[in-house]
Amino acid sequence: MTSVKPSRRARVIMLAMTASVMAQAGLAVTLPEPRRDSSYPLERALAERRTVREFGPAALRLADVAQLAWAAQGVIAPSGRRTTPSAGALYPLEVYIVAANVQDLAPGVYRYQPSLHRLAAVAEGDRRSELAEAAWGQRWMEQAPAILVIAAVERRTTAKYGQRGVRYAHMEAGHAAQNALLQARALDLDAGLVGAFTDADVQAALGLPRDARPLYLVPVGKSR
Ligand SMILES: Cc1cc2nc3c(=O)[nH]c(=O)nc-3n(C[C@H](O)[C@H](O)[C@H](O)COP(=O)(O)O)c2cc1C
Repeated sequence: MTSVKPSRRARVIMLAMTASVMAQAGLAVTLPEPRRDSSYPLERALAERRTVREFGPAALRLADVAQLAWAAQGVIAPSGRRTTPSAGALYPLEVYIVAANVQDLAPGVYRYQPSLHRLAAVAEGDRRSELAEAAWGQRWMEQAPAILVIAAVERRTTAKYGQRGVRYAHMEAGHAAQNALLQARALDLDAGLVGAFTDADVQAALGLPRDARPLYLVPVGKSR
């Protein structure tokens, strides 16, 4: 029997339908508590950070994913303050996890909920190849067991600051990404950075809402 590969448009429609079903089902994953201390010095993480584009086959632990999400956007005070600063404390960023090879986590796309420190399911299945395609064919991303996606809902900030709020959201994405890079090192993991992609294609590949503009992709794993 011959199998027919669905067109790209058909796949995008199927992905969007799955995303909607999963969101309606309200599936959520409780995360291990993040550690707030370690013997890994910040200076060592700074000195060892480098962009890595080749990852080995080892799976990430759910605790690693929890720690990375927390580093990027975790809540650190009862007031709701987070690991990253935010203009006017308006927190426009959303962190999504594209999980492919993570222990105790089904492959899929998840949105990190900072105040609950948990993941909400957005879409199911391994989306790395669609994401690499959206990133102008950067196939190396497909080796990473997980990819953090930092997106911004810009209106949260532009409602107060007008167009300058867009700049603030971009600055905040830099804070979040750098936190994730340094945290990866302190977990003895490695990370890459991807800014070259088509926003709408990333949204379609991952089932992101239209108002969540992807700003930065951070593939994470253990270097080969
Ligand atoms: C804003 C930004 C966008 C980037 N986009 C990509 C990208 O799309 N693909 C890629 O392979 N590397 C990307 N990089 C990584 C740079 O190529 C890398 O940081 C640079 O070569 C310096 O190497 P280092 O990070 O190891 O110091 C990006 C880095 C930044 C800061």
